[in-house]
Amino acid sequence: MSEKKRILTGDRTTGKLHLGHYVGSLQNRVKLQDEYESFILLADIQALTTHFEHPELLEHSIYEVAMDNLSVGLDPNKITLVQQSRIPSIGELTVFYSMLVSVNSLRHNPTIKTEAANYGYNDMTYGFLGYPVSQSADITFCKANLVPVGEDQKPHMEMTRKIVRRFNELYGETLVEPDMMLSDCPRLMGLDGNAKMGKSLGNAIYLSDPAEEVRKKVMSAVTDASRIKKDDPGHPDICVVSKYHKVFNGGEYENICESCKKGAIGCVACKKALAASLNDLLEPFREKRAYYEAHRDEVRDIILTGSEKANKIGNETVKEVKEAMHIYIGD
Ligand code: TRP
Repeated sequence: MSEKKRILTGDRTTGKLHLGHYVGSLQNRVKLQDEYESFILLADIQALTTHFEHPELLEHSIYEVAMDNLSVGLDPNKITLVQQSRIPSIGELTVFYSMLVSVNSLRHNPTIKTEAANYGYNDMTYGFLGYPVSQSADITFCKANLVPVGEDQKPHMEMTRKIVRRFNELYGETLVEPDMMLSDCPRLMGLDGNAKMGKSLGNAIYLSDPAEEVRKKVMSAVTDASRIKKDDPGHPDICVVSKYHKVFNGGEYENICESCKKGAIGCVACKKALAASLNDLLEPFREKRAYYEAHRDEVRDIILTGSEKANKIGNETVKEVKEAMHIYIGD
């Protein structure tokens, strides 16, 4: 058995991943893939909680999200890609854990509340309300030690840790309490000035966007509205483009802010520089992606093999969990 500690993290398969996913989690996955035994979950059941009326989108998205992960530099020989719906033990654990979770604690989960409001749900389905329980099963089926995720996942991590503690307290030390790893990069704002970059907000730069598309999206960003002429002094502290420079063009950030404040660099030049940095980052991803696009069978094999490996581990965990709960009477 591997001596390494385990990571489990993942994404809903509701569409392509964007730069916000990259700085929030994917970047950390790549950094940690040597140090940890990493499981990356293609969360297709969780995708159903919001997209059950759009099944046509799901199969395609499983491949898109798999390729997004592989194209940013996750090595299929190191990491394990797992398709959630292929892992029955996740479903089983979800049912067992559901005994330990109160409906009120789910109703008060801030991420559930925000998402329900965004989707306009006034009568949530049981599946949607309960997805944090299923997410706890995602994390614990392989006894993950660490979960690299964005800030919005914090309530789900707290719930997972609480379930694990409660389970171990009731039935004996069985599950592993995972730690959350937040990115040191602040949440990416939308280039349209929205507080968040998001697919549903229509302001996302996708990891798979062609260079020209990235340029177009950057050029349409909102900047300092009080700056009319190019040599008017700018206010980088209130400009979203400057925030992006800080994240994606760190070496030039101070210079650009100084030039902007003096009116020495205009918004167009500033945006062009940002688009160039983003495209420098994305170009190697595009190359890898082109390979996988042309070898979809290979992507499929990676998912199937990874899921099989995960299944063995998950089945072991379910056996231990059943034993602990005194409902296992043998094979
Ligand atoms: N809820 C996560 C998101 O929306 C996706 C996810 C599903 C996940 N299962 C997980 C993240 C397990 C970390 C661990 O991005």
